[in-house]
Formats: sequence, C-alpha cells, structure tokens
Amino acid sequence: MTSIKFLGQSSFLINFGGTELLFDPMISPNPMASSINLDEISAPYILLSHGHDDHVHDAEYLAKKNESTIISNFEVATWYGQKGIAYHPMNLGGKWKFDFGTVKMVQSVHSSVLPDGSHGGASGGFVIWNEENCFYFAGDTALTLDMQLITRTCPNLDFAILPIGDNFTMGWEDALIAADFIKCDTIVACHFDTFPYIKIDHQAALDGFAKAGKKLIVLEIGETIKI
Ligand code: NI
Ligand code: MN
Repeated sequence: MTSIKFLGQSSFLINFGGTELLFDPMISPNPMASSINLDEISAPYILLSHGHDDHVHDAEYLAKKNESTIISNFEVATWYGQKGIAYHPMNLGGKWKFDFGTVKMVQSVHSSVLPDGSHGGASGGFVIWNEENCFYFAGDTALTLDMQLITRTCPNLDFAILPIGDNFTMGWEDALIAADFIKCDTIVACHFDTFPYIKIDHQAALDGFAKAGKKLIVLEIGETIKI
C-alpha cells in the first residue's frame, strides 16, 4: 500500500514503504493550493522531474527547512547542491538503490530550464519500487514510445501519475495510450487546471478512461488516497 497526497499541479507527497517522498513541489504560488500549509510538509527526499518553476518552486525552501536530499538529473541536482542542499544526481536510464527503494530515471519528452535560466538538463520521470510496490511518476511529457521500455526494465506498476492537462504535456487521450504502453490501468492525474492553458473537462477525461476499462483518479488538492 502506498499513500498518495495531491498538493496541486504535479506536487505529490507519497508515503512509500514508510518513507515520505515529495515530488515536484509547487505549492505556495498556486492559489488552488491555498489550503496546503507549506510548513506542515516534511520529507527526507524531494524528487524533481525537471527544472521548470511549476515543478521546483518550493523545493529550495522545503529542502532547507527539512534537510531533505534532492534527487534529480545532474544539472538540476547540482544546481541545488550549490545552494548547500544535499543532492543525489542521476540521469536518464540510470537507477540507484536508496534506503526506501530503487529509483530509475526514465525518459520524458519535454524541456527543462531552471528558474534563473541555468541549463536544466534533460527532463525525466521516475519509476520507483521496493519488494512490494512499484509506481511511475511521469513528470511533464508527451506520449512517447519509450514508455514501453518501462514494462521491460522495471517491475509491474501498481499505479502511474501521468499529466493529462494537454498544451504543455500530453492530454488525457494520449495518457490513455500511455496507460496501454506501461500496462497500467490505475492512473492518477496531474498537471491539469492550474493555468488557463491546461484547464480540462474532467468528465470527458473520466468517461474516456472508463470507456477503455481503465481507472483515472482525479484527486482534489489536499486529498489522500491509498493504492
Ligand atoms: Ni515543464
Ligand atoms: Mn510543468
């Protein structure tokens, strides 16, 4: 069982085998996430899919406050390292066994630049597993055939967090195909509604998934579920 708390946009606090993992924290500038108290968020690890501000905005504050280790691509991780934050640099295709489980950094088709204009390396996603569970956090990405490699290189997925907001990433129609590529029928939605460009019709997305026999989970900000 993995508990998943949605913090808006692509921000999730995930309790994985007893360890809190914080993904892509962008909470304080998001008016939709005003119910979330930044100072109540604590995690020993912060995973960043790429350097865009809507994924890293609160990473420095939270990492310094909680003495977290940032896990990201080499360019993003070392940029935080220069601020005195603990980091673990990775890159696409590589995996590492942490105390909470194995993290594999996988391809995403997107861009990456850090808030001050520094080179943000290649954007990516993460597949994370321990003996019992495995999930995929896709980050920002287009639909890509590379997703099919996940089923060949990682354990079976219990669930996947996929962007469905369209415009900057795949929309729900492509996310449905992605679910096929990764052989996963339980999809948690992210990267929707935060900005006018990515406002979506929830019912259309839910109906589209239901028609295909898959489950799309669209969480409220602040909501926690267990999978
Ligand atoms: Ni992005
Ligand atoms: Mn984004």
